[in-house]
Amino acid sequence: MRADRYESMFLWLAGAMLLLFAIAIAISANALHIQLPAAAELVAPADVDNTAGFNEPGIHEISANRYEVYMTASADKDGFRFTPDEIEVPVDSQVTFFIASKDVIHGFKVFDTTLSVMVIPGRIAQVSYTFDKAGDYEFYCDEYCGTLHHEMTGVIHVTED
Ligand code: CUA
Repeated sequence: MRADRYESMFLWLAGAMLLLFAIAIAISANALHIQLPAAAELVAPADVDNTAGFNEPGIHEISANRYEVYMTASADKDGFRFTPDEIEVPVDSQVTFFIASKDVIHGFKVFDTTLSVMVIPGRIAQVSYTFDKAGDYEFYCDEYCGTLHHEMTGVIHVTED
């Protein structure tokens, strides 16, 4: 049985598109190194305050121009906030953020950067960025987390050397 000419064209077209998509995925994964985030480390919300790093939230210099920030996100009676909510690094610093929620789902989004990650209770969100321009980068919670969600903001000061 012969397929109709147009039906056969559509079948070939659909097949060609699938092949094209497969090639696009292969190129983005292998040549452009676009990958899903690595499996997250786990931490129970109730244990965040007693977990190494998060027991002293803040910024730590790892080596020249490399920093790690341990940050908690919380929404409780004492306020909705990131801790710390103010960070200062010199320009051209590579900063890795480890963020843990002490309660509900929060988000961490930094203006004018590619930094954006969900902070899911039980998992440590990890994102890195190199700040190659000086200035103040405001960040905020972009997942609705409660009545004072809009108060969850902070700023990263990137200073000239
Ligand atoms: Cu935290 Cu919205």
